[in-house]
Amino acid sequence: MKSLALLTAAALLAVTAGQLTGSVGPTTSITQKRAKKVCNVLSYGAKADKSTDLGPAIQSAWQDCKSGGVVYIPSGEYAMSTWQTLSGGASWALQLDGIIYRTGTSGGHMIIIENTNDFELFSQTSQGAIQGYGYTFLSQGNYGPRLIRLVNVVDFSFHDLMLVDSPAFHLILATCKNGEVYNSILRGANRGGLDGIDVSGSNIYIHDVEVTNKDECVTIKSPAANMLVENIYCNWSGGCAIGSLSTGTAISSIKYNNIYTWQSNQMLMIKSSGGSGYVRDCSFTNFIGHSNAYALDIDQYWSSQSVGSGSGVQLSDLTVSDWKGTIIDPKRAAINMVCADGAPCTNISLSNLAFWSDSGAAIHYTCRSAYGQGYCLHSGSGSSYSAASSTVSSAPAGYNGPKMGNDLASGLGISRSIDIPTSIPTSFFPGATPLKPLLNGSSHRSL
Ligand SMILES: *[C@@H]1O[C@H](CO)[C@@H](O)[C@H](O)[C@H]1NC(C)=O
Ligand SMILES: *[C@@H]1O[C@H](CO)[C@@H](O)[C@H](O)[C@H]1NC(C)=O
Ligand SMILES: *[C@@H]1O[C@H](CO)[C@@H](O)[C@H](O)[C@H]1NC(C)=O
Repeated sequence: MKSLALLTAAALLAVTAGQLTGSVGPTTSITQKRAKKVCNVLSYGAKADKSTDLGPAIQSAWQDCKSGGVVYIPSGEYAMSTWQTLSGGASWALQLDGIIYRTGTSGGHMIIIENTNDFELFSQTSQGAIQGYGYTFLSQGNYGPRLIRLVNVVDFSFHDLMLVDSPAFHLILATCKNGEVYNSILRGANRGGLDGIDVSGSNIYIHDVEVTNKDECVTIKSPAANMLVENIYCNWSGGCAIGSLSTGTAISSIKYNNIYTWQSNQMLMIKSSGGSGYVRDCSFTNFIGHSNAYALDIDQYWSSQSVGSGSGVQLSDLTVSDWKGTIIDPKRAAINMVCADGAPCTNISLSNLAFWSDSGAAIHYTCRSAYGQGYCLHSGSGSSYSAASSTVSSAPAGYNGPKMGNDLASGLGISRSIDIPTSIPTSFFPGATPLKPLLNGSSHRSL
C-alpha cells in the first residue's frame, strides 16, 4: 500500500512537472547538513562591521565545511572586497542571512561555486542579500563584477535571496543539473548588460522569481534541455529570452508558463544570427504583457550579435499559446517571426494570442521563412520566403490581461544606489500562488 501511494505521488509530480526529467534540488536536507557541521563565518575572521573583507572568511569557513555542512553568514552587514571561487566539495550549503555589500572593484564574479553537488544557497530569514552597488560603475559608463555564478553544480537549489544592483549579470547557472531556483528577487538598473538569470544545463526548475533591469529576465542559453520556467515577474526588464544562439546550438524541451512582463523589450525573444544546431520541442504558455516593445519576437537576423557560421539555427516544434498583451510602439511587429532563410522554422503552433497597442493604433504581424499554424505563418513546410506583414486594425477580444498591483513606474536609474527590497514578494503572476512559502525564519535560531 505504502509503495503504491508513493508511486502515485511520483506519477503526479511527473505530470505537473512536465518538462523536467526527475527531481530537482539538494539530495540532503538543510537539517541533515546542520547536524553534520556549521561553519559560522564569524568564527573565521568575518566581522559584521560593513568594512572587514568577508571574502577570506567565506573561503576558510568553506574549507572546513565543504565535505558536508553549512557555511553560515548570520544577519548583519558585511563588506566584501575579494572575490571567492569555491570549487569542489559536496553536501554543503551557503546560508546567507546577512547582507553582503560589494566594496572590491575587480571584475569577474564575487562568488563562484563550481563542481559540487547536493548544494543549497539560501537565506533562512528570506532577508539575505547582496548589494552590488552597480551604480558606481554604471554611472561612469563601466561594468564591474557579476554577483554569483554556479558552474557544473548538480542537485542544488537557490532560494529566498535578494540580488540587488549588480555591476553586471546577477545570477548565472552554467551547465548545471537538477536544480531549483525560487522565491527570489533580482533588482538591477535600467541598463543593458545587467542580466537577471542566465541558465544552461538540464533538468532545472526556475519559478517564483521577480526581475527588474533592462536586459535578460530569465534566459536560456545553449546547451539546455528539460527546463521549466514558471511564475516569473519581469517588472520593467528586457524580458525573457532564449539566446543569443550561434554555431552548435542544442536546446530542447523547454517550457515557459505563467510569465508576466511589464515595460520590457519583449514578452519572449528567441535571438540568433547565422549559426547552426537546433531549438525544438518547446512551449510558451500563459503569458501576460503590458506596454512592451515586442510581444513574441523570433529574430534570426538579430543585429546585436555577430553572424555565426552556419545557415541558421533550426527552430521546430514550438508551441505558443494563450498570450495577451499590449505593445508600446505599433511600428514593431507584435508577432515577429523572422526565421533564417537557410533553415526555415517548421511546425510552429501559434494559438490564442491577443495583442493590441497602448495607443489604440493598428498593429501588425510579420512572418519570414516560418511554417506551421496560426497568424501569419505559412502552412506545411518549404523553402525560404521573404518577410510579409499583415495588419490588425481593431483590438482583439481579451488582449487586456490582469495587472500586478505595483508595477514599477519608471526604470531604476544608474546615478544612485538601488534599495534592497524590504521583503521578497509573495506573488509573481496574477492569480498564481508561489509553489513554496517563503522561509521567513528567525535569524537567531540556534544552529
Ligand atoms: C509538431 O510539434 C508538436 C509539439 O510542439 C508535436 O507534438 C508534433 O508531433 C509535431 N508535429 C510533427 C508533424 O512533427
Ligand atoms: C516592481 O519593482 C519595483 C522596483 O523594484 C518595486 O518597487 C515594486 O514593488 C515591484 N512590484 C511588485 C509587485 O513587486
Ligand atoms: C513572509 O514575509 C512576507 C513579508 O513580510 C509576508 O508577506 C509573508 O506572508 C510571510 N510568509 C510566511 C510564510 O510567513
